[in-house]
Order: sequence, then structure tokens, then C-alpha cells
Amino acid sequence: MPHKPFKAVIPAAGLGTRFLPATKAMPKEMLPVVDKPAIQYVVEEATAAGIQDVLIIIGRNKNNIANHFDSMPELETKLREKGDHDKLAKVEHSSDLADVHMVRQGEPKGLGHAVLRARSHVGDHPFAVLLGDDLIDERDPLLEKMMAEYDKRGATIIALMEVDPAQIHLYGVAAVEPTEDDGVVKVTQLVEKPKAEDAPSNLAIIGRYVLGPDVFDILERTEPGKGGEIQLTDALEELATGGGDGGGVYGVVFRGRRYDTGDRVDYIKAIVQLAADRDDLGPALRPWFKEFAQGL
Ligand code: G1P
Repeated sequence: MPHKPFKAVIPAAGLGTRFLPATKAMPKEMLPVVDKPAIQYVVEEATAAGIQDVLIIIGRNKNNIANHFDSMPELETKLREKGDHDKLAKVEHSSDLADVHMVRQGEPKGLGHAVLRARSHVGDHPFAVLLGDDLIDERDPLLEKMMAEYDKRGATIIALMEVDPAQIHLYGVAAVEPTEDDGVVKVTQLVEKPKAEDAPSNLAIIGRYVLGPDVFDILERTEPGKGGEIQLTDALEELATGGGDGGGVYGVVFRGRRYDTGDRVDYIKAIVQLAADRDDLGPALRPWFKEFAQGL
């Protein structure tokens, strides 16, 4: 029997301490990347993959996120009166994008705990988890491929990417075996943020997961792990090594453009790369970047 449509879950309840004071009264997911908040890219990625139902797990300062995906009648009327159709379309776009729902995490007890908060909304649908620190270039679709693999294999699917060994301790890391498909691997082990010398490979989990509802039962009993937090990686490790009744865990190896916005340096790099690539901003920026770099 075909399964129910995919939903999307976007955890956005972190404290964002690396960006203080910008994140004192605003969630880090609302930080602008060029001219859109980071979380809008992620919602757009889900809708581009055909997902309409989006649940955002919110923490403090939730109103900014809720308002962003809601309509703004006053602003819309003003722009309509001025005949500024371009800006009006931009304002309306974020409220028309998807059916956006919110649930609160309360205490931030880890990514696994945040995902568990989605249980009653997700019900028995399969779902994608998208983390806002990783932005995937819309020209290199990843989520569609992951959803297709979920359907094909009846298994949990995670996105993996080769990273520099010096960075591996920042990620969940997978031990893998090849499959008949060049871009897909079977995951045999998962470790959350290992030391470089203990990492089973240089394949890191980037923040995209396609999961079945069976993961919730596992998350319910997952004990706090790395950093004293309930880790999604630990629940998936149980699925990969034979727990649960799913078909194991597979990784889609991503070789496209990914922008990390998790710390300040990477966030600035992401803005520079995305702006330089845009038709409306690139022509003015690219010559200036060259000049600026020569002066360094
Ligand atoms: C989370 C996950 C980690 C994953 C990473 C991807 O860590 O726990 O397994 O590799 O996202 O961005 P965080 O970056 O939230 O500490």
C-alpha cells in the first residue's frame, strides 16, 4: 500500500549562542542569509520537494518565526497602494509557501528530543527532518532523491557528505558499505561527534533525514548521549544495527553545493557565495570582491 504523504519537521529551538547578541531576542533561524531568513530557504527546499505540511519546532522568541510565515495585512495593503508588486510578491510568498505549523520544545534537550516533539503532528506519515544550519543549493536537489530512496528501499535515509577530517568531530559520522547504486551507501554504524581518531569514516551526516514514524518509539527510549542530550544519531544507530522493524539505514552521498550557516565564519561565507551567484546582486558584487581580496 502506498504510504501517506511526507511531512517536514524543522527543529528551530536552539539557543544560537554563537551569534549573540544578534540572537538575544531572535532565533538564529531568522538571521538573514542575503535577504531571506535562513529558515525560509529550508521551508522552500521542503516545498520544492513536494512537501506541503511543515512543522517547526520552536523554542524561545517563537513569535518572529510565526509572524514570518503568517500574512501581514497592513504591510500588504501599503505595498498594494504604492503599486510595489515586486515587494508585495515577496511578502506574500513566505505566507503562501506551505502549511506551516508550530510546536514548542520547552527545554532544549537535544535534536532527538526536538524530533520527538513532532510525534503527534506527524502521526503515521513518513517525514523529512531539515536542519537550518545546513542550506542546500536549490540547483542541487537532495531531498527528492532521499524520498525516492525511502520509497524504493523502505528504509531510513540520511544525507552524508565527505568532510575534512579536521572538521569531523562536529558531526554525526557513518561507517558504510557500498550498494549497487554509486550515490547510495548502506550505513552499518553511526557515531555522534567522534574524535577524529575514532571516526569510522569521513562521511558526515549533513542535516537532512527521511524517517518513518517507527523512529518515535526508539526516540522515546533513547538515553541522553553526547553532551548529555538525546541524540537523533543514537536512535538511528539502533535502526542501522538492527533495532526497530524498518529496513535499516541508507545514506545518500551529497556532492552538490551546501552552505553551512552554523558558525559566524561559515555564515559569512554562505552569504558571500549566495549573493555573488545571484543575477540581481552578483554583477555589482563580483568586481568589488576581487578588488577587496587584492587589498588583503
Ligand atoms: C546535528 C547532529 C549531527 C549532524 C549535524 C549536521 O549536530 O547532531 O549528527 O552531523 O547536526 O549539521 P549540531 O550541528 O546540531 O550540533
